[in-house]
Amino acid sequence: MPLKTPFKIGSLELPSNVFCAPLAGCSDLPFRQMTTGYKPGLVYCEMVKIDALIRHDPHTYRLLDYTRGMHPIGAQLCGSKPHIAKEAAKIVEDLGFDIIDFNCGCPVDKVTKDGSGSGMLKNLKLMGETLSAIVSAVKIPVTIKIRAGWDEKSLVGPQVVKIAEEAGAKAIAIHGRTREQAYKGSANWGWIKECKEAASNILVIGNGDLFNAEAVCKMFQETGCDAVLLARGTFGAPWIIEDVYRKLEGLEEKIRSPLDYKEALLTHFDAILNYHTPRKVMMDMRRVGCWYLKKGQGTKKLRESLNRSASLDEMRHLILDYPWHETQFIPSLSDDNSSEEESC
Ligand SMILES: Cc1cc2nc3c(=O)[nH]c(=O)nc-3n(C[C@H](O)[C@H](O)[C@H](O)COP(=O)(O)O)c2cc1C
Repeated sequence: MPLKTPFKIGSLELPSNVFCAPLAGCSDLPFRQMTTGYKPGLVYCEMVKIDALIRHDPHTYRLLDYTRGMHPIGAQLCGSKPHIAKEAAKIVEDLGFDIIDFNCGCPVDKVTKDGSGSGMLKNLKLMGETLSAIVSAVKIPVTIKIRAGWDEKSLVGPQVVKIAEEAGAKAIAIHGRTREQAYKGSANWGWIKECKEAASNILVIGNGDLFNAEAVCKMFQETGCDAVLLARGTFGAPWIIEDVYRKLEGLEEKIRSPLDYKEALLTHFDAILNYHTPRKVMMDMRRVGCWYLKKGQGTKKLRESLNRSASLDEMRHLILDYPWHETQFIPSLSDDNSSEEESC
């Protein structure tokens, strides 16, 4: 039975082994309010830069905002300087986080240029040193998240598994793509399986293309991974966690009606409204609205109107007045390997 309730990472007991991934620019507090309502085993905040954290940059601290109901919650650190990684890890522990992840997967140039994120895949010595520094600084468990390699010619997953074990990390999440791939093509779960086979003293978390409950079942079966990390599959479908639980427990699938989509979109709208400035709400709602609506057939006009709308009131009325019952929602419409730049 792949679903484990509870599930332990080191000394930390979690409600399950189905997790929500860090998503820069997306998994802010309102987003996490939506997913944690469905009780994932663990939810991660978006990545924060070690350098910014130790400078006490207020914007960076804000990315780590959470509410009491969001535990268990993880923070993710991104950087390449072991001497300051310790201090950053301590800050995160003192903020009350349950677990720390070390980002070795971010493909963005401005992150990799100083060797951070997936840049670490080209400097495994520094990766081990930075990870060890984080582990040694805190009492809470530490995990690491990687891509399978910089490119197909340099797949390092199994090697990193060993480095992570030696550094004392308790789990390793593998996104089955290379840095070169960015988000193109399918994730290669075979690479996750190879990491699981190499692991003797560390849990393996599978990640990549988990857009529905069937995919999660398949990933557990094909890779033997200990836990899964859902990322883009949570966009416009915060209930995917519940769908996964039901599927893994052999329960009947719960069909989400157009009104479920409407209600979730309005709830998400309110969550954003309660947290961000009106200007930011306008911007975020264009993206968030698109996540929910692009699963609905014939919603293009509404998406365009939301993008053009001049006020928050107008946005709300557009959503309220839309003939939702006439729309058919097909969850698989979003299974398109799109990245954060996806167009709506
Ligand atoms: C918009 C966006 C932001 C992301 N931000 C982060 C991040 O902050 N930290 C991280 O480790 N991975 C980040 N990722 C990668 C995801 O966590 C995940 O590894 C990737 O999307 C593959 O899973 P999926 O195919 O199920 O989406 C991000 C991905 C996207 C699309």
